[in-house]
Amino acid sequence: MDIRFSNQAIKDIDCDALVVGVAYQQAGQRSLELSRAASAVDDALNGLLQELFAAGEFKGEAGELTTVHTMGKLATRRMMLVGLGKQEKLQTQAIQRACGSAARHLQHTGAHSIALACVLEDAPLDLEAQTQAAIEGALLGVYTFKKYQQTDTRGNGRGISKIHVVASAAQHSRLEPAMRRAIALAEATNFARDLVNEPPNVLTPTELANRASLIAKQFDLDFEVLDRPQMRELGMGGLLGVSQGSEEPAKFIIMRYRGAPARTEKDVVLVGKGITFDTGGISIKPAERMHEMKGDMAGAAAVIGAIFAVAALKPAINVTVLVPTTENMPGGSAYRPGDILRIMNGKTIEIINTDAEGRLVLADALSYAIMKEQATTVIDVATLTGGIVIALGSVMSGIFCNDDSLSEEIIEAGRAAGEKFWRMPLDDEYAEAIHSDVADIKQTGGKPASSVTAAKILENFVGNAHWAHLDIAGADFSDTRKPYQEKGATGFAARTLAELVLKRAESI
Ligand code: BES
Ligand code: MN
Ligand code: ZN
Repeated sequence: MDIRFSNQAIKDIDCDALVVGVAYQQAGQRSLELSRAASAVDDALNGLLQELFAAGEFKGEAGELTTVHTMGKLATRRMMLVGLGKQEKLQTQAIQRACGSAARHLQHTGAHSIALACVLEDAPLDLEAQTQAAIEGALLGVYTFKKYQQTDTRGNGRGISKIHVVASAAQHSRLEPAMRRAIALAEATNFARDLVNEPPNVLTPTELANRASLIAKQFDLDFEVLDRPQMRELGMGGLLGVSQGSEEPAKFIIMRYRGAPARTEKDVVLVGKGITFDTGGISIKPAERMHEMKGDMAGAAAVIGAIFAVAALKPAINVTVLVPTTENMPGGSAYRPGDILRIMNGKTIEIINTDAEGRLVLADALSYAIMKEQATTVIDVATLTGGIVIALGSVMSGIFCNDDSLSEEIIEAGRAAGEKFWRMPLDDEYAEAIHSDVADIKQTGGKPASSVTAAKILENFVGNAHWAHLDIAGADFSDTRKPYQEKGATGFAARTLAELVLKRAESI
């Protein structure tokens, strides 16, 4: 992909399609809010934009998308007007989705080169954030996963290979870092999406480790994979227990980005749930939607994606990624309900339902973060519970956090990344449900508040660290095709975590 700034006059930009972002304003009467670029377009087209608005054809609403043919009045043949919503409330996500929808539509209708003119001079987001969002959105929008299809079912050639970003010459050097961030974050997200979209016969724990090692090699990260004997040595009874029923060996992946010479208080350990396929084990899942459980390593994909983006951008901070990865299979030697497993930190868990495997592998990884990495901030990401899908759907992910400021920091990073999070409770009264008569902890707390009781279990393994648990079940995968994104993996949380790390590094 060739991405560059263009400071040509908007009517001279020669490309297959020009994407123009337009917001509206509502001070009494509603009006279109035209940026400098949009005004230039409106002038060249003799007031067409205002005319479309007056006729009610285009209102500037978020999600609106209108194609206009320029009939020789601009160098570009085609223009897409994209709505950005109310100007005073302009958000990253609206820009990403507008540019994503336009780029996606154009890709499917024969465009190879596009120009983005989506920055509003007078909006609550700065030019850097808007520029980043526009480029990021376009790159996320053109993502496809078609490697297993012999013919592209939409049959529209090679897709978009060139993106011009409209900006004045004076702005280029100032906006350059925003472009670099956009490319790194979008590539990392798309990498995470690939991992989740891969079928589970290809993306085994071993293959997940291989893919992580390629990233590590590319960016010169410290890289290590623990195998079964090493897990046994460390006492990782949760990860080993879950993996017992599978022929595929479990792995414990460790990736380290060293951007600061010494440890700092800001350093972050990221833990991702890496169940490459979740059958439920002996407590087997119904067949109907089981195939979707290839995505049960979306947490792992998010944290590997995050360190990918961080390593590409080289901030002055240290980040460690830990991924416990295994299948959850019902083999002859599988773990059973009634078993008691001992986690690395010594605590025992009474197994009730082998489908609640995520908390067991995370318990070992969190213990490792505390005991071996001396983590002061640890964030785990997991497609942990069906309960969070019921509570929040695919719109937001749940945050469970023992620290108000860390929770705010994540929500804020999410806003910058265009991803939404909602804080959920960790009240101690919920721990009553996970009291066991035979072990330290009972594995499940029943149906009520199941995502909260799952988080309460994890809390047992985080020591005194500042800890957040992101339950991304639901948000990790899109069941329907969206204008800005194809069906399948979303790569959720990779960008939020990378944004959080970048912000922390800036504030050192
Ligand atoms: N991986 C699932 C959670 C999940 C459900 C992710 C739907 C994405 C979509 C997890 O391992 C699981 O099976 N959780 C069970 C636990 C229960 C048996 C206590 C759940 O939440 O239903
Ligand atoms: Mn499960
Ligand atoms: Zn699972």
